[in-house]
Amino acid sequence: MKLVDKPAKAHKKDASAPQSGDKDASKVAQGRAELIKKPAPRANIENYEQEYATFNWDDAKKEISYFAGGKMNAAYNAVDRHIHDGRRNKVALYSVGANNKIEKLTFQDIYEQSNKIGNALKKLGVERGDRVFVFLPRVPELYTSTIAIAKVGAIAGPLFSAFGPDALRDRLIDSEAKIIITNPQLKPKLDAIRNQLPDLEYVIVVGGDKAQLGEREFTYEELVAGESEKLQCAQMDPEDPLYLLYTSGTTGKPKGVVHVHNDIVGHHMTSKWVLDLRDDDIYWCTADPGWVTGTVYGIFGPWSLGASVVSYEGRFDAASWYSLIDRLKVTVWYTAPTALRMLMKGGDDVVYAHSLESLRHITSVGEPLNPEVLRWGHKVYGLPIHDTWWQTETGMQLIVNLPCNPIKPGSMGKPLPGIYAAIVDEDGEELPPGREGKLVVRPGWPAMLREVWRNEEKYKEYFKIPGWYFSGDNAVKDEEGFFWFIGRADDVINTAGHRVGPFEVESALIEHPAVVEAGVIGKPDAERGEIIKAFIVLGNGVVQTDELLEEIKEFTKRQLAAHAYPREIEVKETLPKTRSGKIMRRLLKAWELKLPTGDTSALEDD
Ligand code: WT7
Repeated sequence: MKLVDKPAKAHKKDASAPQSGDKDASKVAQGRAELIKKPAPRANIENYEQEYATFNWDDAKKEISYFAGGKMNAAYNAVDRHIHDGRRNKVALYSVGANNKIEKLTFQDIYEQSNKIGNALKKLGVERGDRVFVFLPRVPELYTSTIAIAKVGAIAGPLFSAFGPDALRDRLIDSEAKIIITNPQLKPKLDAIRNQLPDLEYVIVVGGDKAQLGEREFTYEELVAGESEKLQCAQMDPEDPLYLLYTSGTTGKPKGVVHVHNDIVGHHMTSKWVLDLRDDDIYWCTADPGWVTGTVYGIFGPWSLGASVVSYEGRFDAASWYSLIDRLKVTVWYTAPTALRMLMKGGDDVVYAHSLESLRHITSVGEPLNPEVLRWGHKVYGLPIHDTWWQTETGMQLIVNLPCNPIKPGSMGKPLPGIYAAIVDEDGEELPPGREGKLVVRPGWPAMLREVWRNEEKYKEYFKIPGWYFSGDNAVKDEEGFFWFIGRADDVINTAGHRVGPFEVESALIEHPAVVEAGVIGKPDAERGEIIKAFIVLGNGVVQTDELLEEIKEFTKRQLAAHAYPREIEVKETLPKTRSGKIMRRLLKAWELKLPTGDTSALEDD
């Protein structure tokens, strides 16, 4: 595959640029294909090699606001400082409801509203280090609450609104959450497990009806009414926790990844360099803040730069997405390969039925970005898609396609200035270019995970060889220093960019009365990257029917999450297990992919 020599950019002001409603798709397509050869505009980072050689993270601290004595608060940097730097009346959030109604909140609005709910949280007894969870769809209160939690020095726990009772319970129990902020639509999922949560003191319901609420439950509106619009941000040590986000590993329940206020240094620099955000940008991150991308690059990062953020509550649909870009004149877009594949499937006509003239920079994350999607995007949007690699644990983008660098389609790019990444063998020895191995990073970047919530052992596994952070991914580096993703080194499933642990799905499956054993794997899928496939053993006398399998899928979806249910279920008489009784997912995968089964000497004898 040929290199795209220059990060091409369509000159959208060109008279021949396609107009909205242009019906002659092929003519327009040709027009856009010509336009992409125009040179790149000035980017926030212009010379990668030079920055890579000279940059260090202490330089970045100069762009962050600190209190006396080196104290800080990430929320102060994201919101409060814009009250004094001329951005007070600038739109911070374009919140687009599921009904497509747009609500605009300025930095002043976010400041005041987060202060009010922050004061209310304090009155409820929230103290530094307490866990306060946010279980909301993408509505303004999700943003004001998350900022408020950080302001009072508590730890924000983002929860994806599609989570079911099992997913909620695992996270709320493990973290000993004190408060959860939700809405009337999502609350029943919480009510279903409420008696299992002894540490949960209060429930706050956005848009709730007071008459419907029980003891220790409040409406958000009654709490903020009469609260002061002023609140001093808690002055935190940079190493104090900011947010706690659960993510899946290969074994056991989801683990709580702890991030700290100092992360904002990394959020800021990556939003500047990788997202290339500037003051006049209207930026849309399609990820939900229930995932790390939505928390870091949907809230803290872009706001640290003072950019206007778009939040869309509605579901994916090509025409709605493009209309949103046109309506709000979105300039910078951060999305996921699965979404782009779905847009590609949606066809070119729907693209050309929209202007998309405002777009100037596209970035993606979460799974491998296929070269054909990149090429298609280049053709129809007139812009290359800049892939980025990072993880919940890394807390910020680490391997990236910067606007100033050429793109090799299919590659994740190069390490950000300030980051040293390498490919090593099992012993931590660096491998030469072209050799596949473990993707590792030199510890010490600002947003690196600081702790796995009450699980020291798990935390240590990431740093099992001194001097390296082990990502759990396999990759290869080429002669020119570009990194290429190979796959996960463990059983973690990546479906449509969502990280799913097989153990969680297996646990939900065996809660169903008909299922006695379950083994879950990721199965390659053209659109979603992987889909979840379950192998199950049914209970004695249970008859396998299509209806039953459908019911088991629905059950898992309801209990766990809409993205985490098995799209395929295969019934087996028995499942292969190790002598210690662990289901051998590796073997299930080999069966599924018709691969050699390798060493099965650990299989149980029967
Ligand atoms: C895993 C992390 C933080 C971003 C959202 C996902 C996979 C991430 C890429 C990429 C290929 C990627 C890796 C990684 N991944 N970015 N550009 N190309 N794979 O965060 O849920 O913590 O998942 O997503 O396997 O380990 P996450």
